[in-house]
Amino acid sequence: MSNTINIGIIGSGGIAAAHVRAYKEMPDVKIVAVADVIPGKADQFIEQLDLKDAKGFDDHLELLKMDIDGVSVCTPNVAHHNTSIDSLYAGKHVLVEKPMAVTLDQAIEMVEASHKTSKILSVGFQPRYDPNMQAVKEIVQSGQLGNVYYVQTGGGRRRGMPGGTFINKSLAGAGAMADIGCYSLDLALNALGYPRPLTVSAYTSNHFGTNPIYHREADKFEVEDFGVAMIRLEGGIVLNFKISWAMHMDSLGPTLFLGSDAGLKLTPAGSGPWSGVWDGGIGSINLFHDIKGHHVETSIPVQEHKINIFYEKVRDFVVSIKEGKPAPIPGDQIVINQAIIDGILRSSEQGSEVNISIPEFSISS
Ligand SMILES: NC(=O)c1ccc[n+]([C@@H]2O[C@H](COP(=O)([O-])OP(=O)(O)OC[C@H]3O[C@@H](n4cnc5c(N)ncnc54)[C@H](O)[C@@H]3O)[C@@H](O)[C@H]2O)c1
Repeated sequence: MSNTINIGIIGSGGIAAAHVRAYKEMPDVKIVAVADVIPGKADQFIEQLDLKDAKGFDDHLELLKMDIDGVSVCTPNVAHHNTSIDSLYAGKHVLVEKPMAVTLDQAIEMVEASHKTSKILSVGFQPRYDPNMQAVKEIVQSGQLGNVYYVQTGGGRRRGMPGGTFINKSLAGAGAMADIGCYSLDLALNALGYPRPLTVSAYTSNHFGTNPIYHREADKFEVEDFGVAMIRLEGGIVLNFKISWAMHMDSLGPTLFLGSDAGLKLTPAGSGPWSGVWDGGIGSINLFHDIKGHHVETSIPVQEHKINIFYEKVRDFVVSIKEGKPAPIPGDQIVINQAIIDGILRSSEQGSEVNISIPEFSISS
């Protein structure tokens, strides 16, 4: 492999531009091709983003005939599966945007393709590069909480419903649960070492998206804007996961990890009294930040400069290609995230708890 990594972009919408901006900062990367199903859109994108060396295609299969090392899959969720699989079988490494896929079966097929081809399948969760998220994992994995038996997580937007492809069930697969919920799930599961889910009991609703008072595309709104689930994980852990795109409330509460020796609370900076580890003793809270988000007493290093987590995720993909390393955020692991979302949708539809079954992949944490 030459020192330059040749990259292709599949899907030239909003997030593709963010990928391109990151790649353009890397002197050892060349974007050689862009594909989009809308005729002429890839060429327009190439012009707008000043990608002089890139060729535009209306079909990703044509792009895959080129000498390309890796692709960024930036299509709507529904096309993550076929474009990733085609890319892997064409011998390209894949960085696929979140959520990994629309169904669990699709995610499983994607992982199988990456195993068969020995190519990287990495999922684009940029918060993994946030030092706060890394600190959470470090604390949970250090054992200082003892046995973690309960986790609650999931963010809530008061008014934050997207439109277009995001609310079309056949294109997005799911709504808030998959769109922003997959990040919260990744925060909790990554800290816990991605334990396997056993069962899911869930409820979802869309009182806001389907109401023209709250959404201008209410007649087209087919997904959930709110959901809550209780997930039993292996190891006797229970995960309470909730998410909303819209609600009549300011927050769905902090993320909590309850352990047998101590608890960890994550309050978004500026929205709560504290974040940190508490062992129940008065005055024993180890603070991460105060009410204004200022860092207070803690052993976790303060970041002197702001990290561009999106750049870091794209760079890590490139470095893994160059150095022959495994996927930074492996599909093998994120298939568990997809299994939970799949279970939530099934449980909510059936109105009862469902079992989760995933093939025995080697899950790396
Ligand atoms: N990581 C993040 O921060 C982040 C942020 C926003 C969106 N996303 C994810 O990125 C993906 C794309 O979101 P977006 O906002 O850019 O959507 P978008 O609708 O702006 O762009 C998607 C593009 O893909 C094209 N497309 C559709 N099917 C295709 C196919 N089979 N082959 C080639 N092109 C195809 C569409 O024509 C469109 O131009 C979604 O999965 C979304 O969840 C991630």
